[in-house]
Amino acid sequence: MQVDLNTPWRIGPVEVPSRIVLAPMAGVSVQAFRRQGRRYGAGLVCSEMVSCAGLQHRNERTLGYLRIGSDEQPLAVQIFGSDPAAMAEAARMVEEAGADIVDINFGCPVRKVTKTGAGATLLDDPERASAIVAAVAGAVDAPVTVKMRRGLENGSRAALDVGPRLVEAGAAALALHPRSAKQMYTGSADHALTAELVALVDVPVIASGDVTSRERALAVLEQTGAAAVMVGRAAQGDPWTVGEIAGLVDGRPTRDEVVAELLLFVHDTVEEMGEERATGFLKKFYGWYLGRGRFPRPFKQELVQLATLAEVEERLLAAAPGAADVLARLREETPAAEHTTLDLPVSIYAGG
Ligand SMILES: Cc1cc2nc3c(=O)[nH]c(=O)nc-3n(C[C@H](O)[C@H](O)[C@H](O)COP(=O)(O)O)c2cc1C
Repeated sequence: MQVDLNTPWRIGPVEVPSRIVLAPMAGVSVQAFRRQGRRYGAGLVCSEMVSCAGLQHRNERTLGYLRIGSDEQPLAVQIFGSDPAAMAEAARMVEEAGADIVDINFGCPVRKVTKTGAGATLLDDPERASAIVAAVAGAVDAPVTVKMRRGLENGSRAALDVGPRLVEAGAAALALHPRSAKQMYTGSADHALTAELVALVDVPVIASGDVTSRERALAVLEQTGAAAVMVGRAAQGDPWTVGEIAGLVDGRPTRDEVVAELLLFVHDTVEEMGEERATGFLKKFYGWYLGRGRFPRPFKQELVQLATLAEVEERLLAAAPGAADVLARLREETPAAEHTTLDLPVSIYAGG
C-alpha cells in the first residue's frame, strides 16, 4: 500500500504535517537549513545536537543553538549528555526556549562524545539510557523522543532491546538510524531492523538512513511501517531533493535557483551567527550547492578562497545573473521570522 507522504501524524500532542523529517546534523542543521527544509515540505525539523554540559555552564555558543524561529515549528531540539539530572535541566531550558519536542541523542558515534558516556555508548547501558529518558520526560511537558543507532558493534541488535525500554521510560517516538556506531557512514542502513523496531513499540518510529529520493522514501515507509522518514545528507545543499520527496518539486533546479537559495542561506546564516563565524562555516555548503554537476568544479574552489561574503555574493551573481530576481521572489514568499529565545547574552543576537 502506498503511503501518502503529506498526511499529518503526531508525536504526543504535536501534530507533524508531513512524513518527512529533516535530520539533525552537527555543523549543518542551523536555523537557515531548518527554515529551508520546512519550505520544501519537511513536517518536522531538528536542531543539531546540543551539549547538555554546555547548557549547564551557560556556554554562549551552546546557548546560541537555542535560537528558534517562529517559522520552523514544529521543531525538535536535540540534547546529548550522560547524567540524568543534568539532562533534565537541559531539557527544561530547551523547552523554555520554545522547542516543541525534546530529542535525546543516543546515536552519536564520534569519540569526543562517546568517551563522555553520551551518544551511542548509552545503547550499551540500557539502565542509564532509561534513567535519562525518565528524568527528561519528568522534567518537561513537551514530548520526548530519542534518536538511536542500531548499537555499537556491526550487526548489533541493541536498539531492539533498548528501544522498548525507552518507550516504557517515557519516549513518545523513536528515530532509528540502523547502522552501528562502528560503521559510521559506511555500508548501508539496514531498514529490516527498523521494521523489527516498529513491530515492537507502540509509538511512532522515524526511519533514518539513505533516504535520497521519493521512490526510496516510499519504499522505506512501506518496508518498515515507520511513521516517517528522516532525510539527512541528501538535503545538504539540496532542498530540491526534500521537495522532490514531498512531491512539491518536479525536476532539478536551474543555476539561478541554486544561487538564489544559496544566497538566502548565506544571508540567514549571517543573521544567525554573525559575519565572521558565518564566513568559515559556509564554506562546506558551497561544494554541496554548486556540485552535483550544477557548476564547473573550479568555481567552488574559487569561492572558498574569497575572503569576504560580499565577494562571494558578487561572484555568485556574476555566474547566475537571473538569481537576483529569484532571490527577491523567495524573500517575498519568506517573510522574516520572529525569534523566541531564552534570556541570552546580547552578543548572540546582535549578529555577532
Ligand atoms: C554531518 C553530519 C552530522 C550529524 N549530526 C548528527 C547529530 O547531531 N545528531 C544526530 O542524531 N545525528 C546526526 N547525524 C546523523 C543523521 O541525523 C542521520 O541519522 C544519518 O546521516 C543517516 O541519514 P542520511 O543517510 O539521510 O544522511 C549526522 C550526520 C551527518 C552526515
